[in-house]
Amino acid sequence: MKDTLIIFDTTLRDGEQSPGASMTREEKVKIAKVLEKLRVDVIEAGFPAASQGDFESVQAVAKAVQESVVCGLSRAVDRDIDLAGEAVKPAVRGRIHTFIATSPIHMEKKLRMTPDEVVERAVYAVKRARQYTDDVEFSAEDAGRSDPEFLCRVFDAVIKAGATTINIPDTVGYNLPEQFGALFKYVIANTANSDKAIFSAHCHNDLGLAVANSLAAVQNGARQIECTINGLGERAGNTALEEIVMAIRTRQDYFSFDTRINTKEIVPASRMVSAITGFAVQPNKAIVGANAFAHESGIHQDGVLKHRETYEIMSAEDVGWSANKMVLGKHSGRNALRSRLESIGVAPASEEELNRIFVRFKELADLKHDIYDEDLLALVADDAVELESDQYRLVSLKVVSETGELPKAEVTLWINGEEQRAESAGAGAVDATFKAIESMVNSGANLSLYAVSNVTNGTDSQGETAVRLEKGGRIVNGQGTDTDIMMSSAKAYINALNKLAVHAKRSHPQYQGGV
Ligand code: KIV
Ligand code: ZN
Repeated sequence: MKDTLIIFDTTLRDGEQSPGASMTREEKVKIAKVLEKLRVDVIEAGFPAASQGDFESVQAVAKAVQESVVCGLSRAVDRDIDLAGEAVKPAVRGRIHTFIATSPIHMEKKLRMTPDEVVERAVYAVKRARQYTDDVEFSAEDAGRSDPEFLCRVFDAVIKAGATTINIPDTVGYNLPEQFGALFKYVIANTANSDKAIFSAHCHNDLGLAVANSLAAVQNGARQIECTINGLGERAGNTALEEIVMAIRTRQDYFSFDTRINTKEIVPASRMVSAITGFAVQPNKAIVGANAFAHESGIHQDGVLKHRETYEIMSAEDVGWSANKMVLGKHSGRNALRSRLESIGVAPASEEELNRIFVRFKELADLKHDIYDEDLLALVADDAVELESDQYRLVSLKVVSETGELPKAEVTLWINGEEQRAESAGAGAVDATFKAIESMVNSGANLSLYAVSNVTNGTDSQGETAVRLEKGGRIVNGQGTDTDIMMSSAKAYINALNKLAVHAKRSHPQYQGGV
């Protein structure tokens, strides 16, 4: 019998720590449902102490999810633990994940605590968390640069205090696979009662080694892997769920363990996370990149046509790429739409939501003959974006581009319930449109990213636009989708402006001094 690895997804927590990736409560619930369909074992839904909004998001995920464990992160302080405990209370199975740093540099420079004080605080935190749930995870932040002997001392103490999962993070992405594997082997062998807890790996990708380090950890006793969809996360990101899961699934000849993941849901999950966060997936990204199964060279194409396995180690269908086929069209009704949305993991939460998406589906079907799953995912993501558009809303856009002339844009917006109109010229049509919008909104924000990608093939494809704005240290991403890329660009810019106006600055679990 093979061991089953626990897949702990932290897209909604560590993933959300990517600059500009903040998600609304509704978006988090949508992603959580997709993760549940993927059969993720644990969903880390957020850091409830960060803000009232974060608390409510974790609580909403706890209410919406039935199958997966729902987890809330807390530092080792009373308020954080209590808020995490309250937030996960509605979950069928709730977990509190509490952490404190154990490396010399973090203890001395950040926490200003002695090792003895850290052990005492860790034990206190775990005991307090146990008052809310039997499922308590303890993380030794920056374990990858901590003294292994000290780690054993901390882990021994927290297991006695009631921790059921022990997480060893390579917080700064510094470790090498052999070294990280050896750390697991040492710690598991030298911690008293190590058999009473599950050991977990949490790797960051600063040196591009997160997946390799996680595999080394499982080869040396880890039975939980912490990861994110598309490898989203702090700085260079975390272990990519799709990569680690497919490495294990594809190399069953080598590994003596597997996961419960329904790999056919990987691509839909990747698309949904990318559309909601505005973080595009690079074309050559393993498993979920547009080119991951594309063969350009004639020799490769010939080989694959004769026998797929000459150049493919896994099938595109097994990770969900088969979705790229016509599923609905102009004559499809509401029930067909509902059932397709359900089967791709984005069931509408209410009749009202279904009605809104149905209206947009019909509009799209008038413009575009074949409607693919990717189109539906984009419609659902765009609907969530529209709901956020309370302060600024696009009423109309007219763009004129002519050879030898500067492009001009004329934009009408609703701004706090009042209609306003502005015109502008620009270096290009997008520049003119954004200038016209900015002349009415006066945000003063810097545009640091503008990217357009096609949702499906063909010139009638919807365009998905991502816009990133920065102002006063805050970063937000906006998204917009439309068959007309000028419209999708204007929508994305306005979505980012709405986020800038609404989302309060949130505290970050790992950037705060003290415990
Ligand atoms: O990278 C890290 O150390 C973390 C912890 C909070 C687990 O994200
Ligand atoms: Zn992390």
